[in-house]
Amino acid sequence: MRRRRSLAPPARLGIRAARRGDYGALAKLFRRFYREEGFSRAALARVPRTLAEVLRRRDTAAFLAEAQGRIVGAIALSSAYGLEVGAYAEIEDLYVLPGWRRHGVASALVAAGLDWARRRGCHDVEVVLTPHAQGQRALLQWYRRRGFADTGRRIFERALKR
Ligand SMILES: CC(C)(COP(=O)(O)OP(=O)(O)OC[C@H]1O[C@@H](n2cnc3c(N)ncnc32)[C@H](O)[C@@H]1OP(=O)(O)O)[C@@H](O)C(=O)NCCC(=O)NCCS
Repeated sequence: MRRRRSLAPPARLGIRAARRGDYGALAKLFRRFYREEGFSRAALARVPRTLAEVLRRRDTAAFLAEAQGRIVGAIALSSAYGLEVGAYAEIEDLYVLPGWRRHGVASALVAAGLDWARRRGCHDVEVVLTPHAQGQRALLQWYRRRGFADTGRRIFERALKR
């Protein structure tokens, strides 16, 4: 009989809330994520400013995974309040370095994000999948296996001129 692989994160993996001192390493990681996913140049250029805000604000949070003294993955979230559900949270960014995938890193990061949302009194956690991400069936399954359901809603957005 084939032995089932352990799904527990490797012992050498640490998950913790990101601190301001993590700014440089996190900026590098998220910019790599944006480049790989084909995010716009404007979004890429905003990361230095928006990451500083994510680390500073109370309605946002970031958690990171550390292994062998380096950051190997991270998640960023925000929370908001609306008529329909009250308080809710959104997974804004989730990325694991290619060499560290399939070790439970993202699962552990999502668990940390869900805990943060619970502590803030959120009723649900959403994730918006880009068209590129939607094209990856494995990713859709990955979220489904972690309890996320496709609501079928679509996002329309409009930029505001300043
Ligand atoms: C999607 C992504 C975040 C997943 O990260 P990950 O760390 O590989 O995810 P996990 O290791 O938690 O889960 C992957 C699989 O490895 C398996 N796994 C978990 N722990 C394991 C372990 N200790 N040993 C072996 N396999 C393990 C899991 O079973 C899981 O498979 P499953 O979905 O069938 O259960 C990562 O591939 C990534 O960064 N992709 C590019 C960016 C991206 O798409 N981000 C999401 C945008 S919404």
